[in-house]
Amino acid sequence: MSPPLIIRPFQTPARGVAQVPGSKSITNRALILAALADGVTSFTGALFSRDTRLLITALQSLGFVVEADEVAGTIRLIGLGGRIPHNRAKIHVGNAGTAARFLTAFLALSPAGVYELDGDEAMRARPMGGLLDALTASGCRALKPDGSPATGFPFTLHTTGKLGRLEVDAAASSQLLSALLMVLPLSPGSSVRLKGATVSEPFVEMTARLCGQFGRPLERATDGSWICVSPGAYVAQATYAIEPDATAASYFIALPAVTGGRASVRLEGYAAGGLQGDTAFAKVAAACGAVLKPSAGTLIAESWPVVRGGDFDFNAFSDTFLTLATIAVLADGPVKIRGIAHTRQQETDRVLAMATELERLGIKVEPTAAQLRADASLSSLTIFPSKAALRRTAAVGPISIHTYEDHRFAMSFAILGSYDLFGDGRPWIAIEDPDCTAKTFPHFFQALEALRTNFVRVSIDGGAASGKSSTSRRLAQLHGLLHVDTGAHYRSLTHALLQAGASLDDVGTIKSTLSKLRIGSLLIASQGARSSALTLAGAPMADTDLRTPEVNAAVSKVAALPAVRTFLLEYQRSQVKLASDQGFAGVVMEGRDIGSVVLPDAEVRIFLEAEVEARSRRRAEEGQSDQVTQRDHLDTTRKTAPLICPSGAYRLDNTHKSLADVVAEIGEIIKVAALPR
Ligand code: DC
Repeated sequence: MSPPLIIRPFQTPARGVAQVPGSKSITNRALILAALADGVTSFTGALFSRDTRLLITALQSLGFVVEADEVAGTIRLIGLGGRIPHNRAKIHVGNAGTAARFLTAFLALSPAGVYELDGDEAMRARPMGGLLDALTASGCRALKPDGSPATGFPFTLHTTGKLGRLEVDAAASSQLLSALLMVLPLSPGSSVRLKGATVSEPFVEMTARLCGQFGRPLERATDGSWICVSPGAYVAQATYAIEPDATAASYFIALPAVTGGRASVRLEGYAAGGLQGDTAFAKVAAACGAVLKPSAGTLIAESWPVVRGGDFDFNAFSDTFLTLATIAVLADGPVKIRGIAHTRQQETDRVLAMATELERLGIKVEPTAAQLRADASLSSLTIFPSKAALRRTAAVGPISIHTYEDHRFAMSFAILGSYDLFGDGRPWIAIEDPDCTAKTFPHFFQALEALRTNFVRVSIDGGAASGKSSTSRRLAQLHGLLHVDTGAHYRSLTHALLQAGASLDDVGTIKSTLSKLRIGSLLIASQGARSSALTLAGAPMADTDLRTPEVNAAVSKVAALPAVRTFLLEYQRSQVKLASDQGFAGVVMEGRDIGSVVLPDAEVRIFLEAEVEARSRRRAEEGQSDQVTQRDHLDTTRKTAPLICPSGAYRLDNTHKSLADVVAEIGEIIKVAALPR
């Protein structure tokens, strides 16, 4: 067991991009669908945890090409349209329920396959019978090592490649049904009928919607069975962004309630109407007083002026009830949480454990822990908030929270511990066995820590091809900053002026052309970072248009014009406010005069250099013809805002350094600058 972790309260509002991992349920479903698609699917935002690694390894052992980059969160998978390269394999599914069920149904598509499957001790005890019975009825055989019919792991699966009209008992787990639904389109004329009822309906819904996203929508026939009216291989997705885990996101929606003030936590890719039922937590949070701002597929958790008491039914998204239960102790009135009976048989008896820990903090709950222990049928919890009680209990020092090998206790009480109870930053909560978060969120505490920052402005100046863009983008990605490429601003205006046929020597025409432009900003994803792109009449310009030989030849001349620079200065400075409003931890702006003119008071100012040969080589490797020295000459000798190393800036020659080293070096400076004072 890992030693207890003392939680340090936040003394400044939380700010930055919450690094929420991808959803496990979506990652493992999407991997199966991509393997059954015709062609290459590339995933972004994938979760890498034990369960998803097991499925990836299993697919590889079956002959699939799966390339995973755990740091970038990307997976590239070549789907074979329903063909499984190896018809013999040994597969171990660990204790991963999704991998166990999904793979078993997947293998059934192999004509004349013989697969030996096994799992951990715990997995051997988990329900598989309903799925194996359904497959057996379709002609497969699942045999124990002694040759008798199997109802669970281990077993050898002899397959026929045909499904037919299946019936499945999925009362024990909806995954038994989901597994069959995903292979259904690959076997024309097949159908799946549910015997009785199943649990966790939202997950069946998620499976069906994913099948649709991969080009094979499922439908319900009049008798209630599932069918695919246009069967065939799934359609590969050039890029498929896996939604961040909605349950994990709930902790960061709650965080501003405890850090107070005008916090700003960005949840990239978090949107209601996605595949996960747990996004409903956002509605409860809003009802309790959270100010949440949706913005183009991102949710910004801004503040909780008050945590309002009330009565809430968590039945359909019960994994998130713990998130509210902990911050409920800070509410303005009692918080009643209903619909959580089934959570009494999850990782632990969650209702009893929550009541126990809240009572240990001095908080009154109803029913009490003793009553819950005596009566297993009690199914709700009312929490009576009292900061005074918390202060009394914690006066002697931090209270150690038991986590019951349940990741959700560790995470929800860590959020509460981030509250500055005594107003002096004194810790008052410690989390026992903090590593239990690895089940779904291995980097939870780092993600929490990353939001304890001051807004930081980083300027990166340097000549053409000095490595500004790659460095800035990577810094933006790693530190939750908004990336702004001011070179692209000059390029956009150059393109617009050339389009308008303006003579670059005629200041009058240039001014009048500029005055007609409607410039704005749009947040875009660019190479893993979030960038702000300049828009003209609402539309950003394609990168290819910004780097034509004509633009390359004219841009330095345009950038030397005082009228152009004045025109852009306020716009560029306004990007700082944009970054702040959008919840970024800061801004990284690259160009020639950022540290000297645009943001001379930036907390971190960097001047990048590299030898001319190295820079020309980099441009050539990017496939661009660019007169690096000629442009440098124009940029450094112009009268207005020439390219110089700003006084006091950190000068960094990267000729002989890797990008990773440069980013790490600057990262250290950013971390110090971002430390709350
Ligand atoms: O970084 P880049 O190559 O995309 O920049 C294009 C041109 O824009 C460059 O020649 C100089 C000019 N520029 C500038 O004058 N001031 C800035 N802050 C950024 C770019």
